[in-house]
Order: sequence, then C-alpha cells, then structure tokens
Amino acid sequence: MKKAIVTGGNGFIGSNLIKFLLDKKYFVINIDKNKYSNGSYLLKDRKGKNYKFFNLDINSIKIFNILKKYKPEVIFNLAAETHVDRSIEKPKDFIHSNINGVFNILEQLRKYKKKIKKDIRLVHISTDEVYGDLKEKESSSEKSAYKPSSPYSASKASADHLIKSYVRTYKLDSVISNCCNNFGPGQYPEKLIPTLIFNILNNNSLPIYGKGENSREWIHVDDHCRGLFTIFKKGKIGESYNIGTGININNLNLTKLLLRIVKKKIRLGKKVRIKFVKDRPGHDLRYALNSQKIMRKLKWKSKIKFEKGLEDTFDWYLENYKFFNLFSKKNFFKRLGLNT
Ligand SMILES: NC(=O)c1ccc[n+]([C@@H]2O[C@H](COP(=O)([O-])OP(=O)(O)OC[C@H]3O[C@@H](n4cnc5c(N)ncnc54)[C@H](O)[C@@H]3O)[C@@H](O)[C@H]2O)c1
Repeated sequence: MKKAIVTGGNGFIGSNLIKFLLDKKYFVINIDKNKYSNGSYLLKDRKGKNYKFFNLDINSIKIFNILKKYKPEVIFNLAAETHVDRSIEKPKDFIHSNINGVFNILEQLRKYKKKIKKDIRLVHISTDEVYGDLKEKESSSEKSAYKPSSPYSASKASADHLIKSYVRTYKLDSVISNCCNNFGPGQYPEKLIPTLIFNILNNNSLPIYGKGENSREWIHVDDHCRGLFTIFKKGKIGESYNIGTGININNLNLTKLLLRIVKKKIRLGKKVRIKFVKDRPGHDLRYALNSQKIMRKLKWKSKIKFEKGLEDTFDWYLENYKFFNLFSKKNFFKRLGLNT
C-alpha cells in the first residue's frame, strides 16, 4: 500500500490533505504536536486501519524511527507556526517549528538516505508571504527575490533556503510549494474568514485591520491539496512551484462579499458591523502570485470559484459550530502582535 506522512496533519490544510490522501487510498501517518486542539476535528471519524497519528514535535529524532518503520513514498511538511500576529508577539516559537523543525526533518531524511539507500520525497509547504508585498499589478514568480516582512514569513523563507541547499549538497529529493491564502472547512478561528464568521454568528462587530485595504490572493483548500499532490507526483526535484488562483481581493471587499452571502441565509444581528481596528505592525499591503509554471508544466489549475467556495465555507461553519468550541476563546480572540 502507498504510504504518505503528513506533518501538521491536525491543522487546517494538513487535515484536509489527509482526507484527500485517504480518499486516494494512501496509508497516512500524521505527525502533529497538537498545539491548539486535542486532535483534528476533520479527522475525528478517521480511526481506520489506513491512518496512524503520532503526537510528536517535528524537532524529535524519533522522526527517523517513523521513516524506518513505514518507509513512505513522500512526506508533506505542513507543521508550522502560522499566525503572523503570533509571530510578532512571540517569534521564538516560529524559529523552533519553521526553521529548526525543517532542519531536523532534513537531517532525518539525510540519515535515512544514507542508511536505507532510498529517497523519500519531501514536499515542503511554503507561502507567498516569502516574496513580501507588492504594488498594484505586480506579481511574484518563482524567480522573484525573497523579501519577507514578518518573523513568520522570514522563518518560512529560511526553511526554503535550507531545503534548496540540501537538494544541491546532499541530493535530497525535495520540492517546494508557495501558496496563497487558503480558505475552507476547519481553519483555526484566529484567521480572518473564520473570525468573521464567528463574529457574524455571535452578533459581534467585525474587526478589520487598518482601513481594510490589505489585499490577498485566495484559494480553496481543496484546490491547494490537489496542487500539492500534483507537485508530489510531477514536480521536478529542487524546484519551487507557486500555487495561486489570480483572485485578489482586499479585506474590506471580502468582508462585504461575505456579508452579502450570509444575508441570504440568516438574519444579521444589530451589532454585526465592520469595525476598523489598529493595523498590524509591518502589515504587507498586497501579495499576488504568478502561477504559470504549475499551470503550464504540471497542468494544474484551480477549479473552485471564490464566491461559491466562500458560501460553502460559511455553510460548513454553520453546520459545525461546535468546531469553535474546541478552542479557548481567550487564545483565539485576543488581539495579538500590537506590543512591539
Ligand atoms: N493557511 C494558509 O493560508 C497558508 C498559505 C500558504 C502556506 N501555508 C502553510 O501551510 C502549512 C499549514 O498551514 P495551516 O493553515 O494548516 O496551519 P495551522 O496553524 O492550521 O496548522 C499547523 C499545524 O502544525 C502543527 N505544528 C506546529 N508546530 C509543530 C511542530 N514543531 N511539530 C509538530 N507539529 C507542529 C500545529 O499543531 C498545527 O496542527 C504551514 O506550513 C503554512 O505556512 C498556509
């Protein structure tokens, strides 16, 4: 049976990727240190014989034993600290998971290659944020220089460089994806779209940083998972691939669009109003990807329309409201990253 390791498999993208791989009949090994929740909500019914969970930090040397025992074809590395505001508040955690953690995975893969004389492909999940912010009409291709602005994006950029050096020096089989902002079921409530939905459902105001002008490119998590699988199967060793949709929208317009969708489904409470709050320090204005490489060379393209994906995402949170109860409100709704 084909085997895959997913690190960070209890997180938003990781748990969606595990569902995708299980549907493709992979045996999936999930390695996650369970930082926020007690297991994955999306995977709670997946205790079957094709799925194994290890409650482990990616900095552990036990990773080697797991590689040796299961001999997977691929390891998708999604374990990371991911919230930019948290990286401003407490950067050290980001160095631990996003740089040291990746270094440890590379070292365990190097040891595996030496001892077992086989390669395991590493698909490392990076981000568009490594390219820094862009002016209107500009976009970042895989050849653009890295220009990270936050401790989060700098930690992701460091890992990408480390991986490229291991490909060149030790000939490790690795590919990198740089994806734009994801949305969909099971995203942690500290991120923009789930925060908006939680506040809409609780008759709270909708906090928008600055004037809401910060613009992001958005992709549905299912399209991203398909892109990661394509890169695993067809990506060229040592290459990076941007995964984007070309759909850019600023936070204010996104909030207005969500409100238009929601109004057709439920009655909005009186307090549900946009409220501008103090901006994030160093907040990047705009990210945009040029994703021609994956489209032309690997024949991948996004399929899910933004508005329809957003509507389905709202419906998912409505039907799975108990998902919010898994997290401590104190941790998720406290404003972070202003104390510089
Ligand atoms: N969400 C996005 O929009 C987006 C966009 C581009 C790239 N990415 C990248 O995709 C990956 C997954 O993002 P996400 O949104 O699912 O994040 P998430 O925060 O929902 O999940 C991350 C998971 O990693 C785990 N983790 C953190 N540090 C760990 C460690 N040291 N050892 C083991 N597990 C650890 C956490 O417990 C969590 O379950 C990240 O690498 C992120 O940088 C995310």
